[in-house]
Amino acid sequence: MAFPTETVYGLGADAFNPTAAARIFEIKGRPSFDPLIVHLHRLEQLELLIEMRRTASLSAQLQQLAEAFWPGPLTIVLPKNATVPDIVTAGLPTVAVRMPEHPVALELLRLAGTPIAAPSANRFGAVSPTTAAHVRGGLGSAVDCILDGGPCAAGIESTIIALSAEGDSLPILLRPGATPLEAIEKLLGPLGGPAPTPTPAAPGMLKSHYATRTPLRLLDLNDEVDGSSRIAAVRALIDEHSHRGLLCLGSQLEQFEGVSFQVTETLASGDDLSEAAVNLFAAMHRLDAAGLDLIIAIKVPELGLGRAINDRLRRAASV
Ligand code: TXA
Ligand code: MG
Repeated sequence: MAFPTETVYGLGADAFNPTAAARIFEIKGRPSFDPLIVHLHRLEQLELLIEMRRTASLSAQLQQLAEAFWPGPLTIVLPKNATVPDIVTAGLPTVAVRMPEHPVALELLRLAGTPIAAPSANRFGAVSPTTAAHVRGGLGSAVDCILDGGPCAAGIESTIIALSAEGDSLPILLRPGATPLEAIEKLLGPLGGPAPTPTPAAPGMLKSHYATRTPLRLLDLNDEVDGSSRIAAVRALIDEHSHRGLLCLGSQLEQFEGVSFQVTETLASGDDLSEAAVNLFAAMHRLDAAGLDLIIAIKVPELGLGRAINDRLRRAASV
């Protein structure tokens, strides 16, 4: 079943039913090494999911984070309880948990009476869904039921952080997302860098992800290339592509005066990054459906939600 959250739509199954979880992997075409996020609606459900004894010393960090950000778009990776099926965590000793901030998701969780494992409700590697129509368009009849809660209010996936097994080293940011890094660091102090592992620590961090079928190029207007601005690079790209689209902030539009695009999607009327996050995936879906040869996306400022937006655009671009 697909359901709305404040970030993106999820494709959910009982987290303790390995057969149901297997169906999620099948419908998404998701590799088995990519673990799922488990959703809960009240803190007591954590006891079912995480190894409480080992996490005693992390409880302070966990409690602080849960108090500050739950329900909300923050996913926390913690040592898992042995009863969580391996398929859900892709065999990892940890489980990713979050409490979503959406009345439909919370009611579904309450009625289900069990934590729900749910990745984003899109085919693996494709652009995430922020409306029920995106889910239907991407997964078709493979998904038996979609709860339509309207467009998602945050529009970009949760931020994922990992707490260390004993709570003795710095938490690590695994994926920038709808909870700004700045807000987490204000609470916990500086986070550690990403874990240097051969397989991605959070496989949503695979390079080619969130991809449009149409090639997407990401340009930074602040970059100077051989002394000339990136606008010159845009003009060169335009000469090579007859059907092109532009994805940028309203505040960046004036830089494209005199340049024509078949489709222009402004992520925000000015430079509001939360407005941009809300619109990002819907704009990518529309551009992808417009029959273009090229999507030119412009980097947004690398702060607050801008980190998550740039992260998704970078991954969409590396196809
Ligand atoms: O906002 C969201 O987080 C949405 C909604 C539906 O909650 N869900 C979502 O799920 O974005 P998904 O599967 O598209 O991305 C979840 C990411 C994956 O990259 C996965 O690898 C990572 O979470 N993850 C899950 N369990 C993990 C674990 N034990 N350790 C590290 N990363 C984990
Ligand atoms: Mg996803």
